[in-house]
Amino acid sequence: MKRVLLGVNIDHVATLRQARAGVEPEPVQAALLAEQAGADGITVHLREDRRHIVDRDLEVLKATIQTRLNLEMAATEEMLRIAEGLKPEHCCLVPERAEEITTEGGLDVLANYDVLKEATERLQAAGIQVSIFIDTQPEQIEAAARLGADAVEIHTGHYAKAATPQEQENAFRLVREGLDVGLENGLIVNAGHGLNYHNVHAIARLPGINELNIGHAIVARSVFMGLPEAVGRMRELIDQAVLMQ
Ligand code: PXP
Repeated sequence: MKRVLLGVNIDHVATLRQARAGVEPEPVQAALLAEQAGADGITVHLREDRRHIVDRDLEVLKATIQTRLNLEMAATEEMLRIAEGLKPEHCCLVPERAEEITTEGGLDVLANYDVLKEATERLQAAGIQVSIFIDTQPEQIEAAARLGADAVEIHTGHYAKAATPQEQENAFRLVREGLDVGLENGLIVNAGHGLNYHNVHAIARLPGINELNIGHAIVARSVFMGLPEAVGRMRELIDQAVLMQ
């Protein structure tokens, strides 16, 4: 039985700070507390518009956290240069639209094959493990393997947002099948988006899942119970699910 890793996404802490363009709450403090409470990694998304995480956060996070930094980013020249300089342990390539509230869908690997291949090779040459955020279509996952990605992160948003049990069951089946395709193709398979205290169990129970990246639910709960407890509770739920694999 392998521990399923928990990557805590702290973007929302930076969103709150940016609401007053000030210095609190400090995302680095959130990262350190999350690590102490059982996070295996810290995830941040540097957006082109810097609406939450800003460049300085990356540098301080890289210098202070003791687990692993997972930088989510679009595969643009600007972001590639930042990542090559920063050298986080992981980069997760995501699609980015200026008008979206959060990352909406997975990358279309087939349509952007050459750009993603070049980005993957550049990041790997800088010693960074590359993951691609992806929907559950097998052909997209196979394409991610072909272009040389180390990992995929399966988009669990459809599963999380399902309106009926039937819809959720269908979305869950697609996640499970995507996981199998990823593993068959030699990829590390992570998952994330929309996971919360109610729906994480089924995903964490899937044998072969490496890491879950969770942000909104943890930061939302931390408003009322504090970040260490919110992370600790999520950690417990994941560990309990793994025992039932
Ligand atoms: N994984 C990716 C690629 C994301 O873009 C996000 C949201 O920033 C997450 C995971 C975390 O999603 P949530 O905040 O819904 O837990």
